[in-house]
Amino acid sequence: MDFIVDNLGCCSSLLTQSFIFDGRYRLYRFLTDVEDILQKDQPDRDHLIEISPLVRRLLEDCLWLQVPDTQPDRDLGWGVQTIYDEPFFDLTVQLVTWLPGTKSTIHNHGGWGIVALLDGMERNQFWYEKNDRLVSTGEQILKPGEMICFLPQAVHQIEALGEQPTISFNLYGKSTDRFEYDLQNNNKRPY
Ligand SMILES: [Fe+2]
Repeated sequence: MDFIVDNLGCCSSLLTQSFIFDGRYRLYRFLTDVEDILQKDQPDRDHLIEISPLVRRLLEDCLWLQVPDTQPDRDLGWGVQTIYDEPFFDLTVQLVTWLPGTKSTIHNHGGWGIVALLDGMERNQFWYEKNDRLVSTGEQILKPGEMICFLPQAVHQIEALGEQPTISFNLYGKSTDRFEYDLQNNNKRPY
């Protein structure tokens, strides 16, 4: 199952178009396809609907992404391996891993994002910002093989569940006005 979280923190299922996989879809083809989609003058939601099947195709076709070699830092509780991050081009590809039991901050991304879970299990909790306060809108458990898309103002927090680290393939577009939220003190700060 794939999901999309809108700017009001509402998570709904997303039907992802299927492909015939031939083992030939490589990272550079994926990046140029994504760039072509981003050239279109259309809402972020439409970008995500077009890009998410390409993520699935890439993950199916690239063996090196199916067996990622990345581990969380024992002290931080997480780790990031950057796959692609080119200056002056607003597209970032990462493999991100979290130790079981670890939680992220509550944050938005200030830009669209796609997270495909490769291993482990992850709880996503959602909020939206109303009159400078966060309003809870629910949660979704993500399992291996599932993907979740975020619109720029979606606010979420992830928690790695189960016994083994999570590993996800993360793709982010242009990002502005990213915030981390402090629920207890009802404030936020840029990050
Ligand atoms: Fe996030």
